[in-house]
Amino acid sequence: MILFFSGTGNSLQVAERLASLLDERLLNMECVGIPQLKDDEPLGIVFPVYAWGLPRLVKSFLKNINVGERYVWCVMTCGDDMGYADKVLQKALSRKLDAAFSVQMPNTYVCLPGFDVDSDELAASKRQKTMDRLAGIAEVIGNRSVCRELTRGGMAWCKTYLLRPLFNAFLVTDKYFKTSDACSQCGLCAKSCPMHDIVLQDGRVVWKHQDCTGCLRCYHKCPKRAVDWGKYTRGKGQKR
Ligand SMILES: Cc1cc2nc3c(=O)[nH]c(=O)nc-3n(C[C@H](O)[C@H](O)[C@H](O)COP(=O)(O)O)c2cc1C
Repeated sequence: MILFFSGTGNSLQVAERLASLLDERLLNMECVGIPQLKDDEPLGIVFPVYAWGLPRLVKSFLKNINVGERYVWCVMTCGDDMGYADKVLQKALSRKLDAAFSVQMPNTYVCLPGFDVDSDELAASKRQKTMDRLAGIAEVIGNRSVCRELTRGGMAWCKTYLLRPLFNAFLVTDKYFKTSDACSQCGLCAKSCPMHDIVLQDGRVVWKHQDCTGCLRCYHKCPKRAVDWGKYTRGKGQKR
């Protein structure tokens, strides 16, 4: 079984390819309850790295699973580097991973100055390199080998254990989302929010301030490019 979460499609693409290479069933953490695992069935977990750690949704989903002694592997997609996200995952699972990989995919984080989506060329080259790597990754997993292929990046410890808590406390929030006059109230943001945190109310898009996992799907998927996160996303691109 492969459990996955994908904010904007990168991790979905990786999870789908791995499911087909490994002939495994694929379950979306966004819309399933706690899955029943068969005895000794290997478990794969695919998700995007957020702030050198796990998306809130992934963390709370996995907290409720008892994975036992089975073979457990993960593939983390990231724009650049993943810090110690594998250790954060191990803590959530209360056990060691047998195999862990990080793969680069187009960047989706745009909410702070200096962060924007990748150019089309860079996005395409990251995607291609990763898709080319997946057959090798699937072979390692298929053989149930123990393996680590991780791009931790510089200052990895500081990023995961000092910056991540601050990021999660102050920057994973729907408080700053708003729509511009370009919004046509099509409702796509509300329909697609994984946390059901957006509603259309009196002809306006309203973020409920209940639960936001910070995936930016509402920002990237808006067909009118009408969603902004404060002033920091003005003029920035959407992931294609
Ligand atoms: C809130 C947030 C935080 C992110 N943090 C990181 C990070 O720490 N390191 C990194 O390389 N990429 C980071 N990214 C980029 C994503 O991990 C990357 O683009 C990922 O492939 C997105 O996958 P998805 O399309 O399945 O959501 C972040 C993206 C978001 C939205």
